[in-house]
Amino acid sequence: MYGRTPEQTPSMGVCFHPAANGGSTIGLDPMTISALRMRRQSRSNHPLGMHARLRQATAQTHAMLDKQFGRFDLRQRSEYRQFLEVSAAALLPLEEALVQAGVEHIFPDWPLRSRSSAILDDLARLGGTVAPVAVLPPLNFGQLLGTMYVLEGSRLGAQILLKRASQSDDPVVAAATAYLSHGTGQHLWRSFLVMLERHAATLNRTISKEQDVINGACQAFALFEQAAAKSLAASPANPAQAR
Ligand code: HEM
Repeated sequence: MYGRTPEQTPSMGVCFHPAANGGSTIGLDPMTISALRMRRQSRSNHPLGMHARLRQATAQTHAMLDKQFGRFDLRQRSEYRQFLEVSAAALLPLEEALVQAGVEHIFPDWPLRSRSSAILDDLARLGGTVAPVAVLPPLNFGQLLGTMYVLEGSRLGAQILLKRASQSDDPVVAAATAYLSHGTGQHLWRSFLVMLERHAATLNRTISKEQDVINGACQAFALFEQAAAKSLAASPANPAQAR
């Protein structure tokens, strides 16, 4: 059973997480990422909606995860495999928990959104293994929405990571990008945000119900953080960057 950690118990609507620990950003200029974020935020139609609150609550956690994941040089087969193993260690239990919570009734296009098969295919090509970091307790409706936010949002970062992996000279890496390229051209993020706001409007407008959504997002981010920390502790990627 997945033990409750500080990362899962946000106070005042913000995920709590330990201080960031060194690392850099996938060989990208950090300015590029903040420019992308600002551009996306300026296009957002939901300044006061659930999306805006989720983004605000998880911004720091996302920045930390970005640093952790930035330690992997995705052009190198062994590090790309490690990145996928870390991602699968969190993604698989999160998707399983969503299915157990009836995600298909809330997001009927779930079969289009699920990426477990894609990441398992990639790992099979790379000879990777999967060790889920947790078995999650049942998700309630709000937690389900927060979990979906993190998984669907991760597609935005995946577009950047895909460009990096695609620069690999290794044909095995280049052929194992089903996870990172999943949903390309299907506007899944935009359609998710519409459904998120619609569902969020049905939540009782009490702090606890909205807090469930934030808690779900923090828990999902925490799983990725834990998977990355565990893997990097056992086998540091790109040690030159791990200051
Ligand atoms: C090095 C790794 C990563 C990079 C470079 C990266 C980069 C980005 C960028 C550029 C965006 C779009 C701009 C924005 O709206 O903020 C974004 C959004 C997002 N990413 Fe990441 N990301 C990374 C890893 C992850 C991971 C592992 C997760 C979670 C599993 C994640 C979750 C999210 C979420 C939820 C959003 C949506 C933010 C919003 O509400 O607009 N990212 N990421």
